[in-house]
Amino acid sequence: MKNKIHFNEVVTRDGFQNEAMFIPTDQKITLINQLSQCGFAKIEVTSFTSPKAIPMLADATEVMQGIERVAGVEYTVLIPNLKGAERAMQVRPDELNLVMSTSQSHNFSNMRMSMESSFGSLTEVIRFVDHQIAVNVSLSTAFGCPMEGYVDPRVVIDLITRFSDLGVNRFTICDTTGMANPEQVAQMAELVTNLFPQKSFIFHFHNTRGMGLANLLSAIDHGITQFDGSLGGLGGCPYAPGATGNICSEDAIYMTQLIGHDTNIDISRLLDAAKKLETIIGRPLPGQMVKAGTIDRLHPVSEQVQDLMNQSQL
Ligand code: COA
Ligand code: ZN
Repeated sequence: MKNKIHFNEVVTRDGFQNEAMFIPTDQKITLINQLSQCGFAKIEVTSFTSPKAIPMLADATEVMQGIERVAGVEYTVLIPNLKGAERAMQVRPDELNLVMSTSQSHNFSNMRMSMESSFGSLTEVIRFVDHQIAVNVSLSTAFGCPMEGYVDPRVVIDLITRFSDLGVNRFTICDTTGMANPEQVAQMAELVTNLFPQKSFIFHFHNTRGMGLANLLSAIDHGITQFDGSLGGLGGCPYAPGATGNICSEDAIYMTQLIGHDTNIDISRLLDAAKKLETIIGRPLPGQMVKAGTIDRLHPVSEQVQDLMNQSQL
């Protein structure tokens, strides 16, 4: 069965937060405006985190104020605590994406506090927001933690249950450091969709071990229809050793289109954005599509080969 598959572009948050050289605010705005023309369901624009923790995204307010919002695209921002939510509410994003980890070591590394403290802090945020803006909860390291290893899905389910009790309807299940495999993804997809049929789930994969697209296919086969991706495959987590990029948006989206799903994305505009990103970052990125182009980009037959073909009267 073919589905509508929704993609959320996270490059200017998950991708940019790992870059060493500060990317100027106007370049961030230009790229987001370009991405807004591609047909994404959602764009994660930036994060309202501590500028000491993530200096790259210290200009979150200016970026949110500078972009041109396109109807039909949801503009979301990542939030770690109440201070972040208060700052974000000034610029009225369409959604706040609250984040915490499903392992203590990663939560202490990323948030500098225990999982219970994070849950308490995010509870405060949810009460503060008071349904004025949609809330999504991202659960990091849900398939495995780089410090603790395998994460028991019961931890993930428990957190979804507790956030649901606070009225949260949207969740992102994150494979922060690419530890998931397709079988594990299938089990997680079945678990969350069976236990919480009314809730919305995005799956967020990193390609750290080369399994990103296989995990995406497995998730689609098991009923998941919303995914995060990062232009060019840029990304990682500054607090997770060895973490590399997210699944590459254009590779993931093109594959999803080729197997017949409706993504609503204009792939040629997206490839233009990926080329633009390479000029911003100043180095080739892991994405494949930007190098090879779409499969209808054909190459001329060389003269010698043409001669051979003529001789054999094909
Ligand atoms: N926005 C702006 N400033 C913030 C802030 C926010 N959301 N949260 C905290 N701060 C400021 C505080 O005001 C304080 O400033 P001061 O030193 O000038 O007084 C300083 O940061 C420290 O505040 P504290 O509450 O002690 O936070 P912390 O240093 O323990 O850091 C986090 C906790 C969660 C705020 C920080 O680790 C963070 O932002 N992490 C983001 C992690 C992330 O985005 N990871 C990648 C995505 S998964
Ligand atoms: Zn990520």
